[in-house]
Amino acid sequence: MSHTNRIFLYGASGHAKVICEILETQHHIPHGLIDDNPLVRSLLDYPVYNTLEQAAITADDRFVISIGNNRIRKAVAEKLNWVQFVSAVHPSAIISPRGTIGEGTVVMSNVSVNALSKIGRHVILNTNCSIDHDCVIDDFVHISPNAALAGNVKVGEGTQIGIGACVMQNITIGKWATVGAGAVIIRDVPDYAVVVGNPGRVIKINQF
Ligand SMILES: CC(C)(COP(=O)(O)OP(=O)(O)OC[C@H]1O[C@@H](n2cnc3c(N)ncnc32)[C@H](O)[C@@H]1OP(=O)(O)O)[C@@H](O)C(=O)NCCC(=O)NCCS
Repeated sequence: MSHTNRIFLYGASGHAKVICEILETQHHIPHGLIDDNPLVRSLLDYPVYNTLEQAAITADDRFVISIGNNRIRKAVAEKLNWVQFVSAVHPSAIISPRGTIGEGTVVMSNVSVNALSKIGRHVILNTNCSIDHDCVIDDFVHISPNAALAGNVKVGEGTQIGIGACVMQNITIGKWATVGAGAVIIRDVPDYAVVVGNPGRVIKINQF
């Protein structure tokens, strides 16, 4: 039997529930999920397999990594380098026809991506976030719900922009940084920095 066009999610989390529902809106019904927790048997009535072998995964199968933690999502993407990744874009999202969205990226409801913005691989553009023109969002970034990036903002690999944060135009945010919930970013943010408040200030450095 051909397995062509099966879609699996990797990670049976709350985040996965949202992605399942996005795929359903596209009539791409998930075939199941993979999660190494043996206590999790199903999610939203979809079967959860504990190993790739159990699900008889082949190179024809397609995946979305449904793990919110940016570092773990990257580790899984590197481990699963032999499968195909697809993006999941909610139909209410508005993506510039001149914008690009990388493989494995998830775009939730009411997201806007404006002219010429480039979104990397395995990025999460969470509910209602707004990415204005000419932004560059690197791989494994998470832009949380209601965060707003003005024009020409750059966000480095693995960084999380917290819920409701605002980033002014022309700002560069480094890699593996964390911008706290509700922060207002008016200056560039160094790699690994944790920034909170209005105006945003560095409170510590992420130690990974
Ligand atoms: C910034 C953040 C990562 C810090 O978490 P943490 O490392 O556990 O830090 P703590 O909770 O110990 O807080 C450290 C200090 O920063 C302050 N602080 C933490 N988050 C803050 C925020 N968002 N805005 C303002 N101050 C904040 C705390 O009050 C504390 O101050 P104090 O030292 O004067 O008591 C976290 O609070 C945050 O905002 N995460 C984003 C969550 C999010 O957006 N989730 C969306 C998921 S979809």
